[in-house]
Amino acid sequence: DWSMAAYRAETIAKIRAQVGTGRVICGLSGGVDSAVAAVLIHEAIGDQLTCVFVDHGLMRMNEAEEVVRLFRDSYNIPLVHVEAEELFLTELGKCGADPEAKRKTIGRLFIEVFDEEARKLGGADFLAQGTLYPDVIESVSFSGGPSVTIKSHHNVGGLPERMKMKLVEPLRELFKDEVRVLGRELGLPEAFVGRHPFPGPGLAIRCPGEITKEKLDILRKADAIYLEEIRKAGLYDVIWQAFAVLLPVRTVGVMGDHRTYDHVLALRAVTSVDGMTADFYPYDMAFLGRTATRIINEVKGINRVVYDVTSKPPGTIEWE
Ligand code: XMP
Repeated sequence: DWSMAAYRAETIAKIRAQVGTGRVICGLSGGVDSAVAAVLIHEAIGDQLTCVFVDHGLMRMNEAEEVVRLFRDSYNIPLVHVEAEELFLTELGKCGADPEAKRKTIGRLFIEVFDEEARKLGGADFLAQGTLYPDVIESVSFSGGPSVTIKSHHNVGGLPERMKMKLVEPLRELFKDEVRVLGRELGLPEAFVGRHPFPGPGLAIRCPGEITKEKLDILRKADAIYLEEIRKAGLYDVIWQAFAVLLPVRTVGVMGDHRTYDHVLALRAVTSVDGMTADFYPYDMAFLGRTATRIINEVKGINRVVYDVTSKPPGTIEWE
């Protein structure tokens, strides 16, 4: 892509001019945006960049290992992998079911852990973030004027003031589809570049109610099966985002000659251009039936599956 090659060269020059000989820290979330930002910055300034991956235990199946492997082994980018699952789950366990309390706790812990790692690395002059254009607009319109904050986003704001670092945000002018083109341009594997967006607070906001490790493990298994079925049906790239939500509701079911009393799982899939508006994906019923059967048969703790047919607006993509 010609224009993206030009953007890449231009942005690399800008990063070099901005950073000079300074040190940069980049938080990796496991998502496409922070990965593309990190690879671009690494191309610009090499080992002046260190990446920090705070593993909050709220990632999907195998996701943390994939991120570490990609960065450390394929790209040779210095990476600090912080295993903070226990801390996050302990603190989340104290917040109860309130979605904003969960988001704020995750945001606060993320800053604390990141801060400590930055200090251990001897500090840095710049903080790199994979902020996109829609993140900029959504956070401005959410916090500007008398309008209400719909959800506190955890990748914009907070960190920089407290850490006295300047921001490097090389994707600030791009939309998601453009970030993907740039990622391909940078040689990131297709399987990574084509990934659905994943929110910073991770599975915590896909587990309404109180968070426990047990619930997260159930959700991870169900989510992996759902995504596998989507890939098998050739639908992954048609859908903007698809995921499972483990509901804090139990219903009665029957398995063989036993009565069961287990969780309900909701499946979500939407099409979208930038995440700001979205339509639910019109699966055929055979797909939904097949997926529900597999999940109920293979995941202990779930005995009912429902499909979310809400678009955005009025719904949001995530449930919390
Ligand atoms: P909603 O649920 O607001 O989500 O319709 C729009 C898009 O943003 C993602 N999302 C987040 N991403 N930190 C992120 O990095 C967050 O706190 C966050 N909350 C929602 C969501 O997955 C969807 O792609």
